[in-house]
Amino acid sequence: MIEQHISLKNYNTFGIGAMAQYFSVFNTVDELSELLEFKQLPASSLQPSILILGGGSNILFTKNFEGLVLKNNIQGIEKVGEDDNSVYIKAGAGVNWHQFVLYCIENNFSGIENLSLIPGNVGASPMQNIGAYGVEIKDVFHELEAFHLTEKKIIKFNLSECAFGYRESVFKRKFKGQFVILSVTYKLNKVPVFNTSYGAIEQELEKMGVKELSIKAISEAVIHIRSSKLPDPKEIGNAGSFFKNPEISNDQYSILNIQYPNIVGYSLPNGKTKLAAGWLIEQCGWKGYRKGDAGCHAKQALVLVNYGTASGNEIYDLSEAIILSVKEKFGVTLEREVNII
Ligand code: FAD
Ligand code: EPU
Repeated sequence: MIEQHISLKNYNTFGIGAMAQYFSVFNTVDELSELLEFKQLPASSLQPSILILGGGSNILFTKNFEGLVLKNNIQGIEKVGEDDNSVYIKAGAGVNWHQFVLYCIENNFSGIENLSLIPGNVGASPMQNIGAYGVEIKDVFHELEAFHLTEKKIIKFNLSECAFGYRESVFKRKFKGQFVILSVTYKLNKVPVFNTSYGAIEQELEKMGVKELSIKAISEAVIHIRSSKLPDPKEIGNAGSFFKNPEISNDQYSILNIQYPNIVGYSLPNGKTKLAAGWLIEQCGWKGYRKGDAGCHAKQALVLVNYGTASGNEIYDLSEAIILSVKEKFGVTLEREVNII
């Protein structure tokens, strides 16, 4: 069933009250196929006429959506393969990501415990190669199935075909807007391989008094750290990090480091340095800033927030002002991570 003039306020974690001209939910690929037969979409418009929505936790609506919003609700988790060291678990795109993480922990499948508590659904996890605390989806990805919107057929993508990068994939670039991800299969370890390389995890495990390392303990440590600095979208609207951490040349970093000895940067294997955008934004005085209901989170400057009734444009304008001031002070250009509609 296709509904008309639906508020998207409860379908995006920023809590922006944009309207969808048409809206529907699909539970299977057949339902999706049928919905795509819908003939009343605007014939020519500047924006694509279909928007696929998962949990709405990485999206900012700056206007109403004049087209058809389709919420992916394909469920199901199943074991599709196994070898000596690994299990292959396939999950429907509409499965809640954190519920999937908990399922894996309960079954002692290791690999995604560091990605605990990331909002959103399985289907969006490859979109930007979600990452946190030393792990990215590419580390456990096996394959995915996606439906081509115009060719109307299912195509499989393996790891290299997804072209994963830092918060990047082929679905955000070359194939933007062309595919609906239906399911994702992950390759997980039967014998746990612990990843505590991210310093804060070690510290948190110690604070928790953990004697014997387990994937459950790592998950709990990550949940504690995240809850201490990231706002819960149920309380304050947000979409996590609004910007990516920028990569600059080592030469540019050396110059900045002389001027700003406290600058936070990590050297990368590609010979560049990744800067902590949160630090840059904080140094420009934005941390805790609020104008109307749009603001910059007081505990994590990389997170822009909606205290209640901010419009998508107010959040966007704030992001623009932040980009300008970081550019002016440090000569570094921030790129948005959040998908702007
Ligand atoms: P949506 O916001 O619904 O969609 C995101 C994009 O993907 C849109 O362009 C949409 O059209 C497209 N899309 C969604 N599903 C599909 C599909 N099935 N097929 C095709 N296209 C699709 N991200 C991280 O990487 N690491 C973090 O640590 C992290 N922390 C966060 C913390 C908070 C508090 C919040 C609010 C967000 C955080 N995020 C983080 C961002 C977000 O949770 C992830 O990007 C998540 O994967 C988005 O999932 P979603 O289902 O909500 O996607
Ligand atoms: N920092 C500040 N001030 C701030 C925020 C951060 O100085 O207000 C500095 C601190 O020095 C801190 C460093 O930045 O040590 C890094 O901060 P944090 O550990 O919070 O991580 P982040 O770089 O801000 C990234 C991801 C998060 C992910 C965490 C943990 C990006 C854009 N963000 O944040 O992902 O959860 O690391 O791995 O890469 C997301 O993508 O939405 C997201 C939340």
